Amino acid sequence: MPTDQLSSTSTPRLSNYSVRNPTPRDAKEILNLVRESGTLDENSCYAYLLLCDHFRNTCLVAELEEKIAGFVAAYRPPTRPQSVFVWQIGVALSSRKHGLAKYLLRHLLALPATEGVRFLEATVTPSNVPSQRLFKSFADEVHAPLEIVTGFESEHFDTPSHEEESLFRIGPIRADLDSINS
Ligand SMILES: CC(C)(COP(=O)(O)OP(=O)(O)OC[C@H]1O[C@@H](n2cnc3c(N)ncnc32)[C@H](O)[C@@H]1OP(=O)(O)O)[C@@H](O)C(=O)NCCC(=O)NCCS
Repeated sequence: MPTDQLSSTSTPRLSNYSVRNPTPRDAKEILNLVRESGTLDENSCYAYLLLCDHFRNTCLVAELEEKIAGFVAAYRPPTRPQSVFVWQIGVALSSRKHGLAKYLLRHLLALPATEGVRFLEATVTPSNVPSQRLFKSFADEVHAPLEIVTGFESEHFDTPSHEEESLFRIGPIRADLDSINS
């Protein structure tokens, strides 16, 4: 088998994933990934339908063998037009730790719908080390500063056990992103 082909024992290459904007047909599968993630807040199927429809231009799914292996749900906050806010990003267990989340973020910044974006934002809980590592690593990759400030406090949530969500703000990101699209 050629080395760039997927086998059950090898790690798939990033080029094996096809990355595209979602459609409403993807909402259920995205919700399943959220359920399996172990850390993401589970929202209603209707919320994912809205993302896959109204916000589809700033959301992405990565497919491997016709199954969604990763997704990023993002939008441009109306009050911060130079930013794209990553609401949720998730990668299936079998596809983790070989660069797929960063690959999705690179694709996100290369979309026509994120033209003019200079900041990438996300909120992260203190216990979510993989997520912290992802955004720190991505900031390094795009050679941009990473600012971490108060986002949403624990008492803002309906469940007292919910951790605070710190706001990670990466930028300003250079406009010429061609070098990070490979
Ligand atoms: C966070 C998550 C999306 C990362 O996906 P991934 O495809 O495995 O991440 P990548 O392979 O692109 O790795 C990005 C960086 O994070 C680091 N990283 C990823 N998983 C890690 C882990 N479990 N522990 C420590 N570092 C980790 C990688 O080493 C890499 O850093 P490097 O470039 O310096 O080597 C994935 O773990 C996940 O889906 N988690 C559950 C959902 C979640 O918590 N999402 C984030 C909150 S919205």
